[in-house]
Amino acid sequence: MMATSKCWLLDPPVLLLLIIWKESMQCNGLTVNPPESISVTDPGHLGQLEITWDPPKGLTDMAECSVTYHLEYFNTYKNRWSAVRTSRRTYTTQFDLMKNVEVRVYTLLDGPCTNNTVLKSKNYTELIQNPPNTGVTGTEIQDFTCVFHNMEYVECEWRRSPKTPANSKQNLYYWYKSLELAKECPNYVFLDGVRIGCNFSKKSLPNFMDVIFCVNGSSPEGPLKTTFTSLKIQNQVKPAATEKLYLQAGGDKLELQWENPAGSVPGQCLEWQVEHNQEGPNGKISKEETLVEDTSLAFRLSTTVKKNCFRVRSKMSKYCVDKGFWSDWSHQVCHPEKTEVPPEPYRVPVYLCAAAAMTAMLMLPLCVWAMIKMRNSKQEKKLDSVLSNLFTKSSTRVIPDV
Ligand SMILES: *[C@@H]1O[C@H](CO)[C@@H](O)[C@H](O)[C@H]1NC(C)=O
Ligand SMILES: *[C@@H]1O[C@H](CO)[C@@H](O)[C@H](O)[C@H]1NC(C)=O
Ligand SMILES: *[C@@H]1O[C@H](CO)[C@@H](O)[C@H](O)[C@H]1NC(C)=O
Repeated sequence: MMATSKCWLLDPPVLLLLIIWKESMQCNGLTVNPPESISVTDPGHLGQLEITWDPPKGLTDMAECSVTYHLEYFNTYKNRWSAVRTSRRTYTTQFDLMKNVEVRVYTLLDGPCTNNTVLKSKNYTELIQNPPNTGVTGTEIQDFTCVFHNMEYVECEWRRSPKTPANSKQNLYYWYKSLELAKECPNYVFLDGVRIGCNFSKKSLPNFMDVIFCVNGSSPEGPLKTTFTSLKIQNQVKPAATEKLYLQAGGDKLELQWENPAGSVPGQCLEWQVEHNQEGPNGKISKEETLVEDTSLAFRLSTTVKKNCFRVRSKMSKYCVDKGFWSDWSHQVCHPEKTEVPPEPYRVPVYLCAAAAMTAMLMLPLCVWAMIKMRNSKQEKKLDSVLSNLFTKSSTRVIPDV
């Protein structure tokens, strides 16, 4: 196995002297082969796979040598290659099972046998495993998100693909390091009788750990395509909206103050966005947004501004977590509190106008007819009967039949 061959150091020609020296001292043609075989096993942890390999043959003959391994794998969640060095013959890491599993292992020799320099195998032993091609095409869920609402409960939601057959049933499973086996969602969220999400109480998911979620399902046409997602719960916090927001005017200053949302979100972890709406003399509103870490902000009161309005929202800052969601906006506070709202002109409801117009249209020909009749007739009696006729006619239109 430790065959004598070419020198493994390939220095540029300028270092020729050094090469000659090195060759005489160290380059005794030592090479090392990559590991013998490599395999992965799936213990049912939603993509946490155990990679194992065998040492290259013949290594046991080597005295005074320490053997380690350089492992490279394509990190499907970060979309780049990752590398580790280990003296063991196994390594466990997370893969997205819907993508290729790609692993390469090199052998490293170190110790007196290599004059204490690290000797790496020229080539690697490789494993490429394609994802299982199961599931009806195009049925994977879309827009999977988990929100840790005010650090009180986690709600994960997804959208069904339009290609999902009717009468399909989706399942959510999750796993993290201290769970022996993947667990199913404790509390599904339904919309129109269809599963669209899952609710977790505060204690069912750990912070500061990768949690793997898998949504699969079955349908009359066969299994649905599975989706895997890896999340850290502390990066999904959406604080509650602030309820206590105060505005104080003093002299030429406006001071805005607010309080952290009630609950378990640590106030020192929040950053704030303050939205300031100013109404100018011409009624034009200009908007300005400011990021702050404190829970107060002072503004100079401008004389040309008719009205100042503010609202705030919060988010976990990058000093505490990698990312988070903005809370909803607080209510708005304004200075001056109330501007004179011109009284709305009294408006007659539309249906009354319509009724009046209808009545007028009905009455007009009758009136004209009555006038003509009145002129032509010289007898008061007739007029009376006409008018009473008219009255009974119009009143029968108003009073509905019983
Ligand atoms: C090992 O390397 C050291 C310096 O790194 C050198 O002094 C020594 O002679 C080398 N020994 C052999 C056997 O090449
Ligand atoms: C290195 O190993 C890979 C697979 O293990 C093989 O396909 C490739 O031909 C090897 N390259 C060399 C230069 O031996
Ligand atoms: C969904 O995944 C879980 C966990 O891996 C598995 O136990 C279950 O059988 C799967 N269900 C379907 C319908 O594929």
